[in-house]
Amino acid sequence: MNNITKKILTTLLHIFFLGAAAQLAEASDALIAPDKVKTLCQNCHGMDGIATLLGAPNLSGQKREYLQEQLRSFRAGARQNQQMTIITKKLTDEDIESLANWYSSMRITVQMPK
Ligand code: HEC
Repeated sequence: MNNITKKILTTLLHIFFLGAAAQLAEASDALIAPDKVKTLCQNCHGMDGIATLLGAPNLSGQKREYLQEQLRSFRAGARQNQQMTIITKKLTDEDIESLANWYSSMRITVQMPK
């Protein structure tokens, strides 16, 4: 094997391993829905944050900070809603963080009216 072939082979190997490493990193970054989305939120807001209950807002793509703030306000009683007040009583700070991460991590697209 001459030097040039060796160089080409090492470069190809590098590219291969970098690609594999990037894929692994991507896979471990993927969010897994917190169990509480399924048990506590899905009925009204959907897994994908598109509300299934009339009167419940869509949550997908909403700002993380905003979602956290609203959930904390419901829990503290500063924002009142019959359903949300009861539901947020069961949430820990960690729950609020992961629920807000889940709904805010969804990418939505918007189409302006023509
Ligand atoms: C029984 C139906 C129901 C369930 C279950 C429910 N919600 Fe809600 N949610 C609502 C309704 C209705 C509102 C609108 C409240 C209002 O008018 O102030 C709301 C409002 C919210 C808001 C405020 C959104 C905004 O635009 O200001 C957030 C955030 C939210 N819900 C998150 C959650 C999360 C997270 C869960 C699960 C832990 C959950 N909700 C479970 C009915 C529900």
